[in-house]
Amino acid sequence: MSSPITSPDERSKPRIAVLGSINMDLVIRCDHLPKPGETVAARSMAEVPGGKGANQAVAAARCGGAVQMIGRVGDDGFGQKLLNNLLDASIDCSAVLTAQGCESGLAIVSVENSGENAIIVIPGANARLSAEDIHRAESSLAGCDVLMVQLETPQATVLAGIQAAKRAGAKVILDPAPAASLRDELFDVDLICPNESEAIAIVGGRLETIDDAAAIAKRLHAKGPAAVAITLGARGTMLYDGATAELIPSIKVDAVDTTAAGDAFAGAVAVRWAQTGSLRQAIRWANLAGALAASRAGAQPSLPTHQQIDSLSS
Ligand code: RIB
Repeated sequence: MSSPITSPDERSKPRIAVLGSINMDLVIRCDHLPKPGETVAARSMAEVPGGKGANQAVAAARCGGAVQMIGRVGDDGFGQKLLNNLLDASIDCSAVLTAQGCESGLAIVSVENSGENAIIVIPGANARLSAEDIHRAESSLAGCDVLMVQLETPQATVLAGIQAAKRAGAKVILDPAPAASLRDELFDVDLICPNESEAIAIVGGRLETIDDAAAIAKRLHAKGPAAVAITLGARGTMLYDGATAELIPSIKVDAVDTTAAGDAFAGAVAVRWAQTGSLRQAIRWANLAGALAASRAGAQPSLPTHQQIDSLSS
């Protein structure tokens, strides 16, 4: 199951670990998303590898990171496909376990013509990833630069990952998605990067203007993370580091499918932050990664390479 990171080229890359979900996405394209009680006809349906954790792992690998995935797949037909897909992206899967008698994570992703989506996730094997699994994988976090976590695995498991990364001296990025209320200890991270609705789910309030975004970022910061980056789509990202609130602009693209745009952003931030030490610079670059992903269809197929992001920034 493993593809150890051993070549000289791999050793010079930033080392990124990702603890999170691995899903198969059933992507349904339709003219508009159904309202409650409404039935709409699909234009197409496709199986696409996804899951916030796996997406962020692939994003970081395409951005130039040496990536290790920590997660679980099921022992169904999707499990092996999902694992092979990660291995094909040169991701170390030695800490990806198979849950026996359990289905892999599955997401029903509906996407309308505007690019907007609605997602229902069936956690499957992701719900079986335990704090004990993290303790067993702890040695693989040694030498890691950044650990990325999200909320599609149990919060106790995410917390075990955060604590293990801190013991290893790694930075931790928490993408608090899908929106949820968080236990207090989960805020003890170096960066939290919600989108607008996830930020509001945590601290409440309204987010319409840039001033609202700055105020919400400050309230989130008061909960404990060293820095807050609220992604605002085409408007850019509001960064608050405890001293200055700054809108870091993005670019406008024709949205085709916003699925995994946040994952593209998070993966790019992790790699560029580890490479440059500058969070501001990393976010400027990651905004382009998110915009590129939104301009393409699918979760992992939409994730850009570092060359593609660079060509947009030059
Ligand atoms: O962030 C996008 C992802 O959310 C999809 O790939 C789907 O699997 C859900 O986890």
